[in-house]
Amino acid sequence: MNGIVLERERAQAADREEFRRAVLDGLSRRPRAIPAKFLYDARGSALFDEICDLPEYYLTRTETGILRARADDIAALSGPACGLVEFGAGSSVKSRLLLDAMDLAFYAPIDISREHLDASVARLRHDYRALPIVGICADYMALNALPDLPPASRRIGFFPGSSIGNLKPEEAVAFFRKAHALLGRDGALVLGVDLKKDSARLHAAYNDSAGVTAAFTLNLLRRMNRELQATFDLKAFAHEAFYNPDEGRIEIYFRSLCDQLVVVAGKTFSFLEGERVHTEYSYKYEETGLADLAGRGGFRVAHLWSDPERLFAVAYLTGR
Ligand code: TRP
Repeated sequence: MNGIVLERERAQAADREEFRRAVLDGLSRRPRAIPAKFLYDARGSALFDEICDLPEYYLTRTETGILRARADDIAALSGPACGLVEFGAGSSVKSRLLLDAMDLAFYAPIDISREHLDASVARLRHDYRALPIVGICADYMALNALPDLPPASRRIGFFPGSSIGNLKPEEAVAFFRKAHALLGRDGALVLGVDLKKDSARLHAAYNDSAGVTAAFTLNLLRRMNRELQATFDLKAFAHEAFYNPDEGRIEIYFRSLCDQLVVVAGKTFSFLEGERVHTEYSYKYEETGLADLAGRGGFRVAHLWSDPERLFAVAYLTGR
């Protein structure tokens, strides 16, 4: 067996142990919660790609439109020979708009799903033969330094998809601080953020009629069954998502449809009918709220572009 295979198996074992601990801890606490990053195994990442194409999920389409319209502005603001670092790259569909427009010394996508990252990097290397691409498999919230990267005039971060909204406000500030440290004093951050709007529109985006978002949430139960020898009956739980206007966020859970016992990694947990396990928040912002969080993390909003309906915004943040 070669070293790369061994290395990969060791990393997988460490990932699984982290998952086991997080789940046992999350199910033992009240209120129960499992961190959203565990939604993104290979199947979860593929389901998320499907969510992005749903008619109700206006976010991806709208953000892509803004990026397409502003890619040349972003390229001009960033200048020549910069390095693009993407936080949570997924399939890098939107990144291609920047790769096509910017003058880049390298592209470094960071993603938590090994399979997804490897497949995406292979496709990008094929399509951008002259561009150095460094895939980084990591949880960007836990990353304290970047690996050695090719030299660049400056580093530009890319954090699309309103992933900033999946962080609680204090975590978002911590993310900005971290991004600021990783990108350097003259770095900049291109950020996609979903805006506050009519709650019916928000609700529909997280409760699609085709049931893909439900499948995405319930994939977490499937993953626990597979990786932690859990006994979740996928028909005995349901996806639940609603807008909480007081907190300005969508809240996402899976909910038990009956009183039941579930074994996870050898431990038994009881669920009452209606009991929920939290998986994700998706905070919605206005420009002032965003500027405040970014400011506390060391950035200022240099530009903010939106669509005609003001559904979504792309911000260009620079060090302050
Ligand atoms: N960043 C995405 C968002 O907040 C993540 C997301 C979309 C999501 N749909 C979801 C997370 C459903 C959990 C469940 O919109």
